[in-house]
Amino acid sequence: MKKEQIIIFDTTLRDGEQSPGASMNTKEKIQIATQLERLGVDVIEAGFAAASPGDFDAINKIAQVVKNSTVCSLARALENDIIQAAKAIEPAPKKRIHTFIATSPIHMEYKLKMTPKQVIKKAVEAVTLAKSFVEDVEFSCEDAGRSDIGFLKEISDAVIEAGAGTINLPDTVGIRMPSEIKDMINQMHAHIGNRAIISVHNHNDLGLAVANSLAAIEGGARQVECTINGLGERAGNAALEEIVMALKVRSDYYSNVETKINTKEIYPASRLIASITGIEPQPNKAIVGRNAFAHESGIHQDGVLKNKQTYEIFSPEEIGLNKDDTLVLGKHSGRAAFKDKLEKLGFQLSDEELNSAFIKFKELADKKKDIYDDDLRALITSNITSVKKAYEIVALQLMDSTGGVPSAAVTIKTPDGQEITDAGIGDGTIDAVFKTIDRITGHHGELKDYKVKSVSQGKDALASVTVQVAFNEDEPAVIGHGLSIDTMLASARAYLGALNSYLSMKGMLKKINSKVII
Ligand code: KIV
Ligand code: ZN
Repeated sequence: MKKEQIIIFDTTLRDGEQSPGASMNTKEKIQIATQLERLGVDVIEAGFAAASPGDFDAINKIAQVVKNSTVCSLARALENDIIQAAKAIEPAPKKRIHTFIATSPIHMEYKLKMTPKQVIKKAVEAVTLAKSFVEDVEFSCEDAGRSDIGFLKEISDAVIEAGAGTINLPDTVGIRMPSEIKDMINQMHAHIGNRAIISVHNHNDLGLAVANSLAAIEGGARQVECTINGLGERAGNAALEEIVMALKVRSDYYSNVETKINTKEIYPASRLIASITGIEPQPNKAIVGRNAFAHESGIHQDGVLKNKQTYEIFSPEEIGLNKDDTLVLGKHSGRAAFKDKLEKLGFQLSDEELNSAFIKFKELADKKKDIYDDDLRALITSNITSVKKAYEIVALQLMDSTGGVPSAAVTIKTPDGQEITDAGIGDGTIDAVFKTIDRITGHHGELKDYKVKSVSQGKDALASVTVQVAFNEDEPAVIGHGLSIDTMLASARAYLGALNSYLSMKGMLKKINSKVII
């Protein structure tokens, strides 16, 4: 029997980026998109083009590099959103516009202040306009989970007639139970037949997003929208890795469907996203959590030693977690081995970036004997995916704070090449460093989150610092990464990295480059 394909629509770069503190810069998004393509996702929702010039730019760059997956932009059912989406995805060989409007009574009455008839009209206009730019148009009934099924059928008929090829029925607030989702999809499938593909997009507010997505597949959905590590608005979206592995491991149960995902790229994708966003999956997270293959009890360990299948339902290698492969390069490793390793970890670097990464790697190898996969991920995320021609830390000196006032002297190279030194005090050493950076750069950041962790193992382990800083109270916080054997230096780099990302997203670095800073 020929299996039907489940279309994997990844929205890590759009809904995933809506996770508090997960905003990424363009270079980081390109790295993730490239890894998603290696993973074999069918559709990459690269962002929401009309949201900001930074979003537009990232989608447009992704559309230039991704060749095999369809590149998609979200757009509200508004003319300008659709035009921006069409322009942003224009370079992609395979492209899709995903437009949406809310269809639940509560959203239509209070949020949109529109009647159901007006909503249908808007939806049809949006799909018609999108269809004038691209062949592949998806329409979402936002809050379908709380919408009237009769209205869902009516609006679906209208947008299919206007050219939508995919009808997405999101459980936007994550309220539905699996049997309810299956029933809704069953009814919609019976009504729509093969006029359009039915898709689901489940949020995880009750921890049911994956169960609901699998139930939807049983009901006839042939596209699932999901994210790596389950990132997403509020409690997140359905986790891609859980849906894909459930379909694979239980292919006896889901015998009529399959995905095109190369599961060996799941673990590299999960680590890449965790290192870029600084959001680690919980240790007991299914499939990719640190403990997912850890056997603690003696009885379990004994069983696994005798036969792994006693307690492991699939092998870590199936998701690309090769335990023997984690000790990697040292100071004698060559450029080719280094490049090969980075590609295995999911990084696609230009020649120039590779050269610069190799120099940083050699500097690190001089200080640190064994270099592990996580060291390399941290090295690349804190250096190569950071923005270019930006502020850089040149020197950092801390005055001993024992009993005195914590103070720091910082020298920074500005984007136009000047070196500026200043000193300042703070409530603690880190505060002193960050305040001094603020004085030099003329920006004021509010620290929202600060995480320090040691990367890999050993006394010479690197400190990896991830910060979230808001440089404008009306805008989301941005992420910065810093890496060093010295925690304070890593912190300073992370803070400056966040500022650089913020300025680059706002297109402000170019202006700084042409302005004289005193
Ligand atoms: O959750 C939701 O409804 C969405 C739509 C925009 C698809 O993210
Ligand atoms: Zn969503």
